[in-house]
Amino acid sequence: MLKIALSKGRIFTETLPLLAQANIHPLEDPERSRKLILDTNQPAVKLVILRATDVPTYVEYGAADLGIAGKDVLLEHGGEGFYEPLDLKIARCRLMVAGPVNAPPLRGRLRIATKYAKLTQRYYAEQGEQVEIIKLYGSMELAPLLGLADRIVDVVDTGKTLRANGLAPIGAPIAEISSRLIVNKASLKMNSLIIKELIRQLQEAVSSI
Ligand code: ATP
Ligand code: PRP
Repeated sequence: MLKIALSKGRIFTETLPLLAQANIHPLEDPERSRKLILDTNQPAVKLVILRATDVPTYVEYGAADLGIAGKDVLLEHGGEGFYEPLDLKIARCRLMVAGPVNAPPLRGRLRIATKYAKLTQRYYAEQGEQVEIIKLYGSMELAPLLGLADRIVDVVDTGKTLRANGLAPIGAPIAEISSRLIVNKASLKMNSLIIKELIRQLQEAVSSI
């Protein structure tokens, strides 16, 4: 049995065509079903539907054999708990610092709102800057508007969300983001042939799309 963990929404939608090329077709749509473990056309392959940020945890502990998660989530999770053999090149965006357009110069310790607290702490530490991190769980763009923070660290794709809220990117991207296939280390040893073949098929699908 192979369990592949992924989140519904953007990642599920963009992964479907890749899985299809590996002849894996879910039998149910997670947007309609309340089931969290979906059967596929291959009886030995199940899709496990999780919150995006929980995918690395399930794979690290071996509760799922494989997972698909954004590099942003993997950088925040950190650690050496799994292999990351393949860039699926889906859900592409950039991790950026952003702040209010035409903000007056800031003095003192910057307050940064983000759901990527550890990553942001590391990033500013590498720049030699001491900042205060304010951990949020969504809608980061609101924080500077309501005076909760001076800046945010979030993913940006088209930049529409930033513009709509009077914000603009500051500086170069912290990281280019795409979704990655991750694999539990013990699963890879125990199911080496089948997992390596799946990675090969997905690699082929990524190259052909
Ligand atoms: P949660 O359920 O924990 O709130 P989420 O809202 O981050 O998760 P999604 O919005 O589906 O879940 O994002 C999943 C991944 O897709 C992110 O981790 C990131 O890698 C990528 N992503 C997020 N926003 C965008 C975007 N606007 N364009 C492209 N990729 C994005
Ligand atoms: C993400 C992210 C930003 C937005 C950036 O949110 O947290 O708010 O996308 O995308 P943009 O630069 O194209 O505006 P979320 O996934 O909630 O938004 P979405 O589904 O509208 O992309």
